[in-house]
This record gives sequence, structure tokens and C-alpha cells, in this order.
Amino acid sequence: MTKKFRAAIVGLGFGAEFIPIYQRHPNAEMFAICQRNKESLDKIGSAFGIERRYTEYADLLKDPDVDFVHINTPIPDHAAMSIAALEAGKHVACTVPMATSVEDCKRIVDLCAKTGLRYMMMETVVFSREFLFVKELYQKGELGKLQFLQASHQQDMDGWPGYWPGLPPMYYATHCVGPMLGLPRKDAEYVSCFGSGTIREEMIGIYNSPFAVETAHIKLRNSDLSARIIRSLFDTARQYRESIDVYGTKKAFEWPLIEGEQAVIHTAKKPEHEIAARVEVPDYAHLLPAGIRPFTQKGVYDLEGNEHLSFTQGGGHGGSHPHLVHEFLSALVEGREPWPNAKQSANWTCVGILAHESAMAGGERRDLPSWSFSE
Ligand SMILES: NC(=O)c1ccc[n+]([C@@H]2O[C@H](COP(=O)([O-])OP(=O)(O)OC[C@H]3O[C@@H](n4cnc5c(N)ncnc54)[C@H](O)[C@@H]3O)[C@@H](O)[C@H]2O)c1
Repeated sequence: MTKKFRAAIVGLGFGAEFIPIYQRHPNAEMFAICQRNKESLDKIGSAFGIERRYTEYADLLKDPDVDFVHINTPIPDHAAMSIAALEAGKHVACTVPMATSVEDCKRIVDLCAKTGLRYMMMETVVFSREFLFVKELYQKGELGKLQFLQASHQQDMDGWPGYWPGLPPMYYATHCVGPMLGLPRKDAEYVSCFGSGTIREEMIGIYNSPFAVETAHIKLRNSDLSARIIRSLFDTARQYRESIDVYGTKKAFEWPLIEGEQAVIHTAKKPEHEIAARVEVPDYAHLLPAGIRPFTQKGVYDLEGNEHLSFTQGGGHGGSHPHLVHEFLSALVEGREPWPNAKQSANWTCVGILAHESAMAGGERRDLPSWSFSE
């Protein structure tokens, strides 16, 4: 008999995009949803045919029929909600970042070790088609030896509500850090970060964070590699871009400068004008169960197949959403750690937290805690 795990999604903005994916995954039962606004909760519950609905997270955690929670609430809530779920005996999938303090990351790692429950940070970039493409090139040996990696995430967050105005750029750095550490499968050992420029006066005081741009260098542990990451959120002119560049001895992969253009592969030892060539990055839907393959490409569909245009990010994030769901459920079914697991998620998240600390201290080196090392 196919083993099924009962999913509860908490937070139904971005979170709602995962409902139809769980509904079509062979190892999931899309069981419960939770958000504070009852009217919107009922609207989504009716559209997707989900009966079990909660406006209070604490009530959801008391439900013995829920096997795991997938948390998609605002950033400041991620850690407390993950900790509460683990204490209530539920596995946890949580959107990025894991937490906003090193201490909270450790609490989650410790709870997983104590309970044997699984935690996965649902980092989209490491399941994007671009990352899967580079990973394939790397694993086949086509890149040669890795020499350097860099990633950027630049986005103008003006007008975004709540916790966003003034957020230190490196507090939301996992889209950059994840692929840098995830490709060679290394831990970060230490980080140094510079702040640059200044955001508007009225935003600085919110987090006591003045910088428009933060750039960090990460030293990878047990490796000769380092990586550079660039982040900006406010007052910097740049089209939205989450990029990864990977340089090997034989080939390098570079993200396009403008959204919609093709990526570039550079091949060493060719005549100069042949070194750079545009490349069509393939889709990796074939790695998924048939029922959820369309979600690498398309929008969000209800049970009748009607597209819900109000949730528009479905095919976004490099087609990563169904891959994330599949990795987490596969880990539960196989009784193994998901990737990234609690320790890896903590290492990735702490790079950003400590990078901001470093920037505030003029670029001082910050060491990652040894409990976040996997090897
Ligand atoms: N690429 C990515 O990985 C990616 C993309 C988009 C959003 N996100 C993350 O997803 C999270 C949510 O983003 P969003 O844009 O949907 O935010 P949002 O503010 O639109 O939605 C938050 C949701 O959480 C619910 N919520 C808030 N507090 C709650 C509580 N105490 N109990 C139950 N429900 C509660 C709200 O009702 C709402 O449904 C953020 O942390 C964001 O960083 C990640």
C-alpha cells in the first residue's frame, strides 16, 4: 500500500500554491489548512475541497491526524512555529529563512536530534531548473574542478508590507547561500560581509540596518572554495534577479543579465569567440511523479482544473515547487533526512545572520557555529 502523510499548510499567500501539488502527490493527503483570516481560509478551503480548517495555529498542532506542517507565514514567525510543531510531534517543512537568530536555528537542530522528527527548509533555488542543470553538469564532470561560485538576489521590495521595510538584506540570503553550499555539498566555515550605500532614513531605524547592498564572501569548510553573494532590497536600481554563476576548470555557467534571456556556458580552451554560448536550460519534471509534473511549468489549479489566477507564482521560482514537495515527502517515506535537513538549513541561514553582523562590524570575520556542520 502507498504510504501517505497528512499535510497541513500554514499561511496561505505563497503557501496556497503548494495545495494542489500535495493534492496530486502519491504520498500526501492534503489534509488541513491554517490562516488567521476566516473568510479567506474558507474561500481557499472551498476552492480546493479541504474540510479541516484552522484560524489558530495552536489548535492545528493539537490535531492528532496531522503528520507534518508546511509553514509559509511571515519571516519573524518561522522559528517559533517550527519549534512549536516539533514539540507537538509534527515533522516540519518551512519556507525560507529558517530563523532570524543563531539561537533559534540551534533550537530547531537540537529538537530534531532529540525527537527524530524531520525538518526541511523549503529553499526554492536549489530545486530550480537552473540549479538542477548546473548540478547535472557538475556531477557528470563537465565543469571540471570547481574554482569559484557567486550568487545574487536583488529585488526592490518598496511597498511590501509588515516585516519587509528596512530588513537587513542578508537576513533573507538563503536564495544565494543555498546554491553556493548546495552544489559542492559543503558547509560554510566563516563569512565576512561589507555593507554599501544607505537606505532612506525612515527605514534605517526599523532593524537598525543602514545598508542598501550587502556583499559577503563565504569560506567553504574542508574545501579550497570560496563564494561571493550580493543582496539588495531597497533603494538600488536593479530588475528582480536571483542568479547563480559557477566557474569550473572546463566549463562555467553564468545567469543571464536580464530576465527572459538565455543563460551562458563558457567552455575553456576554445577560440575566443567560441568560448561563450547561450544555452537553453532544460526542465526536470521527469524526476517527479507524473501527477505533479505540470507544476514545474504552470499556474495553480483547483480540483476541477481551473487556474487560480490570484496565486501567480506557481511556475515561478524556476519550477521548484513540486521538487520541494517531492523531496520532503520522499524523505518521510524513506525514513531519511531531507535535503536540506535541519543542520544544513541552519548553516545556510546562519551565514546570512552572521554576514549582517559582520557588515555592522565593518567586515569582521564571523565563524559559523560548529553544531551547524554536517561533516
Ligand atoms: N521563493 C521563496 O522561497 C518564497 C517566495 C515567496 C514567499 N516566501 C516566503 O513565504 C512566506 C509568506 O510569504 P507571503 O508573501 O505569502 O506572505 P503573506 O503576508 O502574503 O502571507 C502570510 C500568510 O500567513 C498567514 N499567517 C500569518 N500569521 C499567522 C499565524 N499566526 N497563524 C496562521 N497563519 C498566519 C496569513 O494569514 C497569510 O495567509 C514569507 O516568509 C516569505 O519569505 C518564500
